[in-house]
Amino acid sequence: SMDGGGCPMHGAGGVRALLGRTNKDWWPEMLATEILNPNGSSNPMGADFDYAEAFKQLDYAALKADLTALMTDSQPWWPADYGHYGPFFIRMAWHAAGTYRTADGRGGANSGQQRFAPLDSWPDNGNLDKARRLLWPIKQKYGKHISWADLFILTGNVAIESMGGPVFGFGGGRPDVFEPERDIYWGSEDKWVNEGVQTRIAPEHGFHEIEGPLAAIQMGLIYVNPEGPQGNPHDDAGMARDMKETFARMAMNAEETVALTAGGHTFGKAHGNGDASLLGAAPAGGDLVAQGFGWVSGHESGGIGEHTVTSGIEGAWTNTPREWTENYFRLLFDYDYELVKSPAGANQWQPINQKEEDMAPAAWDSNLRVPTMMTTADMALKRDPEFRAISEKFRNDHEAFKDAFARAWFKLTHRDMGPKVRYLGPEVPAEDLIWQDPIPTGTRPSDVDVAAVKAKIAGSGLTVSQLVKAAWASASTFRKSDFRGGANGARVALAPQKDWEVNEPATLAKVIDTLNGLRGNLSLADAIVLGGVVGLEKAIADAGFGVAVPFSGGRGDATAAQTDADSFAVMEPEADAFRNYVGKKKLAVKVEEMMLDRASLLGLSVPEMTVLIGGLRVLGANHGERGHGHFTKRPGQLTNDFFVNLYDMTNVWAAAGEGDDEYVATDRAAGHEKWRATRADLIFGSNSELRAVGEVYAETGNEEKFVKDFVTAWTKVMNADRFDLK
Ligand code: HEM
Repeated sequence: SMDGGGCPMHGAGGVRALLGRTNKDWWPEMLATEILNPNGSSNPMGADFDYAEAFKQLDYAALKADLTALMTDSQPWWPADYGHYGPFFIRMAWHAAGTYRTADGRGGANSGQQRFAPLDSWPDNGNLDKARRLLWPIKQKYGKHISWADLFILTGNVAIESMGGPVFGFGGGRPDVFEPERDIYWGSEDKWVNEGVQTRIAPEHGFHEIEGPLAAIQMGLIYVNPEGPQGNPHDDAGMARDMKETFARMAMNAEETVALTAGGHTFGKAHGNGDASLLGAAPAGGDLVAQGFGWVSGHESGGIGEHTVTSGIEGAWTNTPREWTENYFRLLFDYDYELVKSPAGANQWQPINQKEEDMAPAAWDSNLRVPTMMTTADMALKRDPEFRAISEKFRNDHEAFKDAFARAWFKLTHRDMGPKVRYLGPEVPAEDLIWQDPIPTGTRPSDVDVAAVKAKIAGSGLTVSQLVKAAWASASTFRKSDFRGGANGARVALAPQKDWEVNEPATLAKVIDTLNGLRGNLSLADAIVLGGVVGLEKAIADAGFGVAVPFSGGRGDATAAQTDADSFAVMEPEADAFRNYVGKKKLAVKVEEMMLDRASLLGLSVPEMTVLIGGLRVLGANHGERGHGHFTKRPGQLTNDFFVNLYDMTNVWAAAGEGDDEYVATDRAAGHEKWRATRADLIFGSNSELRAVGEVYAETGNEEKFVKDFVTAWTKVMNADRFDLK
């Protein structure tokens, strides 16, 4: 059974709650501001605010000059190590971007989430509250012209540049949000890193298995435990495996992983020169007078500068921590290392017999020299054979290292921005990169062409069900989390999407073939969406309504060469409630929760999700010939029959058979079978809020409202990736 026992984390067959552990679980006393914005809109900028327009008026050069000056403008309340905040800001930007995970596209830098719980209070984000506060005067000065989200990343770039490091470019265009994103599963553990065991590992499998979609090995970490798996500095194999797996889940291969880690740790230092037990609460649980600062130290010095404790590890990686140099790999390879403990008690590695000139200046006193260090994660770059080969290559070819670092940093910080058309500003690189999912610019077809192709589709013999399914298959991959997927590009006709089981490959291929034969000047991407329009208009007319379905042409068609098939593979739906599909793979969460998840990624509201499901059912959009939820006697007509019949009290619902994924309605009086349904159907009767919305659509007099609302929601999905439309 789907909700059967077992460990909620990784047990055989257990299901977890969609959202796992949330802010309310961590900080029950947190002010419940969300009661003022039940519909999720706390944005003070107002609906008319257009960030792209505001960004265009930004004095970009002046902002960069101010950021450069800030790097060396040390403040007494948080003194800059080595007189330079650059490394600190790089870590801030890296952690802003590093929460991204490919599986659902969530996390990442694109909405400035580091300002909010839980991220502002993750142990791994320790003291980054100070980095953000250092930026406040600049954010205040430039106001609406630069979002926090953009500022984090641009500051990281300026930091690298100001220390002589290589950058590849910068694209702005990350509008801020003003509340935590509440749709992200960060895990189910009820302990932070180091308080509990490494719960994401399934020991019974004998190897590390991190629960999907997560990309870190423990709650509160960006990726891995720097001291080694579960703090064990001797588990070389485990360390490398953790690094490869977590970085892969954010779309980084081994070479990118080495380049990023080595490049990042060319700068700055780790902080553990004190007693970690003196640190106070994280920001979300902090005292009122701390004003958003967390980890306030009870140390007599205030725990700043020399006495800062962040990770607990202490020391710089190189002898030149405020400059881009070749010293990281030099020191990594030229010395043997021994395990030592930092003053805060963390495991770290120290060069044996280090020469005076290879030691680092003390961060707080450039006249003092102190040993450098490597974390266990850094040591993996020479202990793991695959990493080592890459590290040796970079050591011997510094230009290759520079290029790899700059490109990987650009990818890291822009991975969740979607296609390049969304990038703003003077430093957007001209080069197209495969991870941007490039799509050739489309041309807007003429009305005459559109009308001609519409007529041909209508006469092609393709059914309403086929046309609607193909259009849905094409558009419904969109996810607002990282702006990937969607109908533009017609990637539904390319591997791997064309072969996804949810898309019914054989039928889809026939539909695409037919559309290809009649589309004339239209792109295939446009023709697929136009097919949906034709199907819907027929279904609307057959139901006796006269509602037009809007169409905005202008999509382009991507090629296989422009498509990184592997990176699209992670987007394959394991279930799709909109098509009443459940794949063969055992689901980690309930189907109805996955429905919510998909609706959220599509940017749908509850009424939009509800009207779409109700409409898709009667249109025959179910996967295969599955009749579940097909509550109508007039298939192919766009009616509200789904809701009318679901709420009909002459039906009695019961589970069909053993499982809890199939249900049957029998006639209350006569006892004969009337309908079959899945969880994704019945949830609209059992959940009181979904039912309340569904009832509106079942009401007499709302039949046409149902059709109109369906068309609006449908069109929203079809155009979700049309960043060119205003
Ligand atoms: C600092 C771990 C990857 C850039 C640190 C610290 C740790 C750490 C423990 C010390 C934090 C403190 O106590 O202040 C790791 C691990 C990584 C990783 C385990 C991956 C396996 C990266 C990457 C970048 C980066 C990819 C950037 C491209 C930095 C920088 C600092 C730092 C610049 C210095 C911050 C400062 O000087 O205040 N890292 N890191 N790290 N990390 Fe990483």
